[in-house]
Amino acid sequence: MLVAEKTAFAVVPTGAALGATIEGFDPARASAAEIATVRRALLDHLVIRIRDTDITDAEFENFGKKFGTLKPSPDFTRSRPVYLQDAPNVTIISNVTEDGKPIGEHGDGELHWHTDLAFTDEPSAHTMLLAREVPPIGGNTSFANMYAALEALPETTRARIARLTCKHQASHNAQGGRRPGYKDIETEDVREMPGPIHPLVRTHPDTGRQALFLGRRFGAYIPGLTLEKSEALLDELWSYAALPEHTWTQEWRLGDLIVWDNRCTMHRRDAFTGQGRRRMHRLTTLGERPF
Ligand code: SIN
Repeated sequence: MLVAEKTAFAVVPTGAALGATIEGFDPARASAAEIATVRRALLDHLVIRIRDTDITDAEFENFGKKFGTLKPSPDFTRSRPVYLQDAPNVTIISNVTEDGKPIGEHGDGELHWHTDLAFTDEPSAHTMLLAREVPPIGGNTSFANMYAALEALPETTRARIARLTCKHQASHNAQGGRRPGYKDIETEDVREMPGPIHPLVRTHPDTGRQALFLGRRFGAYIPGLTLEKSEALLDELWSYAALPEHTWTQEWRLGDLIVWDNRCTMHRRDAFTGQGRRRMHRLTTLGERPF
């Protein structure tokens, strides 16, 4: 007699404004139907979490390919590009040093709210982090729902930004340091810094929903406005960007795998200075030019 295999596959929302945990799911052995369910859950919940994974980097990379074309951050953005031999699209976010050199990017400091690769022509569609080492405390990652941020804006502000754009400057990192590929850029004036121009309100290509698209506060500029007006409007928009009721925080456990959609979220990370080793393996997929 054939007995149907019992599966505990379930999408369990966090109860916050975004995020869901996928239970009973093995990313290394997922069927096409399961992948379709997980991708649907990502569109519905913006961030998904799979706990207690036990997968190799090659299996992680293979899973990542189910979401799109893998595209690591360009070298000009990275302090130390590292490529894994068995999974060349996986990059490392870590505070660990070996032989006095960092094995990955971003150290142990706070990472302010941002969208991955907003400062490029085609910002990442998805980012995936797989927790290989986690400190006992700190280093949590928070996510903000940018559909909700847009909906929270006053009507007049929403109407005002409907056709406005924002320049996402590329030359400086979030701490204000110059990126490796822009060592010769001297200006501190955001109007002159290089970077792509994207709409302040973008449409998600799969859901058709509109989201506020800010990228990052540092170095932002709204073309066509005076610097003062641009700063004032950006300050107003940022005051709605990550209201506590629109956010959810991931407290990392070893083996956690998180996938988020950059087209409708922003994220930030807590500092964890002095708290121990943290090593995340990271994948990003190629996105489209925001529209
Ligand atoms: C990132 O901003 O891409 C990294 C987030 C983290 O380290 O949790």
